[in-house]
Amino acid sequence: MLRTWFRNAYNKAVPKPAPNQKFGVLDGHPAAQQHAQEAIEAHTNFKSNQKEFRVYRWSPEHPNHKPFLQSFFIDLSKCGSMVLDALQKIKAEEDSSLSYRRSCREGICGSCAMNIDGANTVACLKPIDTDTSKPTIITPLPHMFVIKDLAVDLTNFYQQYKSIEPWLKTKRLPKDGREFRQSPAERRKLDGLYECILCACCSASCPPYWWNPEEFLGPAALLHACRWISDSRDEFEKERLQAIAEDKTKLYRCRTVQNCTANCPKSLDPSGAIHHMKAMHLLSKDNN
Ligand code: SF4
Ligand code: SF4
Ligand code: FES
Repeated sequence: MLRTWFRNAYNKAVPKPAPNQKFGVLDGHPAAQQHAQEAIEAHTNFKSNQKEFRVYRWSPEHPNHKPFLQSFFIDLSKCGSMVLDALQKIKAEEDSSLSYRRSCREGICGSCAMNIDGANTVACLKPIDTDTSKPTIITPLPHMFVIKDLAVDLTNFYQQYKSIEPWLKTKRLPKDGREFRQSPAERRKLDGLYECILCACCSASCPPYWWNPEEFLGPAALLHACRWISDSRDEFEKERLQAIAEDKTKLYRCRTVQNCTANCPKSLDPSGAIHHMKAMHLLSKDNN
């Protein structure tokens, strides 16, 4: 009885060595076998690997408290590899009041956009920097009104998206009475435009959008405008172009700084799309 008790206590206190493994592909390479065994043992006996995350906090429940950065320490050996995994762990295990948006966790829904170490991106596609000597700093998308912690108000952003009428507009029914057809070449013109997930990383990194968020449509809405203008099935190309170019603020406030393109987590080129529409507009004026 006492022996069993001692054995159990000893087993709990002293970690078991990793079992010796045989790596078939390393047969005839004893040094490589040894390295592989050491790697397994190192992983088995992994010591805690604490990483600091400094997260922006502000709550409307305490409107007079200034925003601040709160430190959380996460053991990276017990966390997934993306920044969103760290936030999920913080929310589940440390502070359930932490607010942020997320849904798909694979770069499709666009909801987990935030600023991580100074750059806008979606947290689910951003790998954690494993250098534990420096913290990862997480703040909301810049120049957006904060609702709580990392969640920002996107009302204006979505209104602007709605204003470009993001749906197919035609003047007549399809020839076969069933569907509007597109050749492969016409379809290819939408590549680089349709993939936008409306995360707002681009608009929140654009200086003219910071200063004129109401008049200037911003790179995301403009990329979508370009998507519909480029669609061979849409019959309102001129009207769409006229609507965004007529008052010199919606489109022409873009100063081609290209922060938008540099910050797009889907590697799209809103700046190029804006440039394309400016060129189309200027050409259409010359031809009139
Ligand atoms: S290229 Fe235009 S839309 Fe993009 S960041 Fe610069 S000013 Fe903003
Ligand atoms: S263009 Fe890129 S950064 Fe901008 S909303 Fe779309 S996916 Fe996000
Ligand atoms: S959770 Fe959907 S893009 Fe990150």
